[in-house]
Amino acid sequence: METLTNAGVRIRLLGPEDADALIRLAETDNLFDEDPSVVPSGALTYDGARSFLGDPGVLFWLAELGGETMGFLHCCIQRRRNAGPWAELLLMEMGTHAQWRRRGIGRSLLAVMEEWMREHGMEEVWVPANLYATGFYEKCGFAKDEGEILVKALG
Ligand SMILES: CC(C)(COP(=O)(O)OP(=O)(O)OC[C@H]1O[C@@H](n2cnc3c(N)ncnc32)[C@H](O)[C@@H]1OP(=O)(O)O)[C@@H](O)C(=O)NCCC(=O)NCCS
Repeated sequence: METLTNAGVRIRLLGPEDADALIRLAETDNLFDEDPSVVPSGALTYDGARSFLGDPGVLFWLAELGGETMGFLHCCIQRRRNAGPWAELLLMEMGTHAQWRRRGIGRSLLAVMEEWMREHGMEEVWVPANLYATGFYEKCGFAKDEGEILVKALG
């Protein structure tokens, strides 16, 4: 699936054949972070990238302009156990290149995700947002839910 936004930015859903694009992104993904001075995640193997993009539960969109990556959006498909839509989305991560923020790229990525959700019979998307991005999500129609997100890292 491919979408052209009005700014000429092309947004496409990656598949396993796009492993190279994911590897290139990993080399400079610090530029898509809240703090671009952190080190990039780097060192992604071709097989690892291919396996990730080939996972049917993974959705990964890339926003590009003239061959350069402007932003990305990564979601997981969460099956639901009860009546209603068969699944919902968990928005795991997204980022706009630090030099391209506040120009509508994040909003365009979410619009493409929402189009995909409608086409696939989904009604809800969840995001464990960092504080920096909360205002952005609210501008794009997300609302705060009850409760808190907890995490446990096995030592
Ligand atoms: C959050 C992020 C993805 C937003 O992307 P973006 O391309 O700059 O967003 P857009 O330009 O589409 O902004 C859409 C709207 O949200 C607003 N907005 C954008 N970033 C915002 C922020 N950090 N706080 C409050 N509002 C924000 C914009 O002003 C715009 O409002 P408008 O339509 O009324 O003009 C980007 O700042 C980013 O990559 N941050 C670092 C990584 C990160 O925090 N990711 C989220 C992890 S949960």
